[in-house]
Amino acid sequence: MRLFAYALREYDELGYLQKMASERGFEFGWTPEYPTAKNVGLARGYDAIDIITSPMGADLLKAFHEVGVRNVATRTIGYDHIDVAAARDLGMRVAHAVYPPEGVANYSIMLMMMAMRKVKLIMRGNDSQSFGLRGKIGMDISSATVGIVGTGRIGATVARHLAGFGCKLLAFDPYPNQDVARIATYVDLDTLLSQCDAITLHAPGMAENYHMIDADAFAKMPQGAVLVNAARGSLVDTAALIQSLENGHLGAAALDTIENEANLYYHDKSRDVLPNHDRAILDSFPNVIVSPHMAFYTEEDVEDMIRTSCEALLSFDVSEDSPYEVH
Ligand SMILES: NC(=O)c1ccc[n+]([C@@H]2O[C@H](COP(=O)([O-])OP(=O)(O)OC[C@H]3O[C@@H](n4cnc5c(N)ncnc54)[C@H](O)[C@@H]3O)[C@@H](O)[C@H]2O)c1
Repeated sequence: MRLFAYALREYDELGYLQKMASERGFEFGWTPEYPTAKNVGLARGYDAIDIITSPMGADLLKAFHEVGVRNVATRTIGYDHIDVAAARDLGMRVAHAVYPPEGVANYSIMLMMMAMRKVKLIMRGNDSQSFGLRGKIGMDISSATVGIVGTGRIGATVARHLAGFGCKLLAFDPYPNQDVARIATYVDLDTLLSQCDAITLHAPGMAENYHMIDADAFAKMPQGAVLVNAARGSLVDTAALIQSLENGHLGAAALDTIENEANLYYHDKSRDVLPNHDRAILDSFPNVIVSPHMAFYTEEDVEDMIRTSCEALLSFDVSEDSPYEVH
C-alpha cells in the first residue's frame, strides 16, 4: 500500500507514521498542507489518503478518486467533515481513528473546572497584579449538578470521572448506557438543560445535531450556567451563545471547538488577521475560554490516531473489514 498523509505534523505525527510504516511495510508521502483542490496532485500514485479535520466534500473526493486514490482515513474520531455518502458513491471506503477517551474526557473536565472557578479572569488579573477577590468567586464542582449530553465513549468517561468529585449527574443520550445509568440519571434534554449548573457536550457533529444548543436551549438553562463544548462547534448556535453571554444569562463557556474553525487551527497564525469574528468576540470575554481544538492532544492519543487510521487503510487495501470503518 502507498499512503499519502495531509496536514501531517513533523514534530509529533511523522515519527509515529515512520515507525508504523517500517513495522507494517508500507510506503508513504506527506505534506503539512491541508488537502485542497490545488494539491490533490500530490496524492497521484497513492492508494489512500490520511487526513484530519478539514472539509472533504464531494468535489474534493472526486478529484482524489480521479488521481487514483481509493480509500480515505481521518486521524480524528469525528468524521462529519467527510461527505461519506459521496465517498460511497465513488466506491471509496472511509475510516476514522479510535483512541482512548480519557484524554478528551479529562480535558473537558479541566475546562469545566477552569470555567467554574473563573481561572481565565484570575490569570488575566495576575498579569496586571490585580489580586482582588471581587468578581472571582467560583462554583465548586462537588456541589454542582452537571449535565452530560452524549454518553458514548467520551461522555461515559466524563460521567465516571465526575462521579469521583461527588457532583450530581444528569445525562441525555437517545441510546442510554447502562454503566452510566448507575452513576447518572438519564433525563430528557429540556430537563437536563433546566436543572444543570454545568453542561458538557459529547454528541457528534452530525447534521441532525446542528445547533442543538440554540437560543431556546440557552433560555432553558439556569442563570449563571456553564457550557463546555469539546465535541463539535456545529452543536452550538454561536450567535445565540454570544447573545446569552452578553445579556448575562450564561455564566461562562469553555470551548475547545467552535463553528467555522476549519483550516484555522494547528498553524502559527500569530502574524495574521483571522477571518473568524465569533472567535475574536468569544476570546475577548473574561468568562469564556477558547482553546484551539486540542482536547485530544496527548502522546497516547496522537500515536493511536496514526495507528488506527493506518490499520484501517491497510485492511481496506486487501479488501478486509476494519473496526475503524465508517459505514
Ligand atoms: N475536541 C477534541 O479534540 C475531540 C476529540 C475527539 C472527539 N471529539 C468529539 O467528541 C464526540 C464524541 O466522541 P465519542 O468518542 O464519545 O463518540 P461516540 O460515538 O462514542 O458517542 C457519541 C454519543 O452521542 C450520542 N448522541 C448522538 N446524538 C445525540 C444527541 N442529539 N443528544 C445526545 N446524545 C447524542 C450517541 O448516541 C452516542 O452515544 C465526537 O463525535 C467528536 O466530534 C472531540
